[in-house]
Amino acid sequence: MSSRTLVICKPDAVERGLSGEVLARLERKGLKLVAAELRSIDEATAGRHYEEHKDKPFYGELVSFITRSPALVAVVEGPGDNTWEVVRTVMGPTNPATAPPGTIRGDLGILLTENLVHGSDSADSAAREIGIFFPDLP
Ligand code: RTP
Ligand code: MG
Repeated sequence: MSSRTLVICKPDAVERGLSGEVLARLERKGLKLVAAELRSIDEATAGRHYEEHKDKPFYGELVSFITRSPALVAVVEGPGDNTWEVVRTVMGPTNPATAPPGTIRGDLGILLTENLVHGSDSADSAAREIGIFFPDLP
């Protein structure tokens, strides 16, 4: 059994030259890249991706951040049915300021709004988000 999840090296990661570092950590963990593309996320796509946050006070800031410059959007695959959880563990919690050392966010960031990486937060989210960014992925 294997499963996939969506990863986004966010604009801050690409701007800082850290997208390779982010993907390398996931690959070293034992995950395989099955798709990866540098692209500018447009507002409509950002709106679909972050639909759950539409009514939050930080939504506008979130969309302008994720669309401000190219992001590296990828799909990774691992053994087991919880690849989304493996990625979230390697990423660390949302706020880099307090994320533990050894995690991507804990080692590489400080600001909550510029936390380097996105990972789907459930198996259902992974399927939905892969469908948004890679609708033709076999
Ligand atoms: P992501 O979706 O980007 O992988 O991050 P996450 O699951 O760890 O966090 P989530 O709750 O989904 O929030 C999405 C992004 O919104 C920003 N945020 N800002 N100003 C605020 O209070 C606030 N709260 C969240 C974060 O950048 C977070 O990654
Ligand atoms: Mg999230």
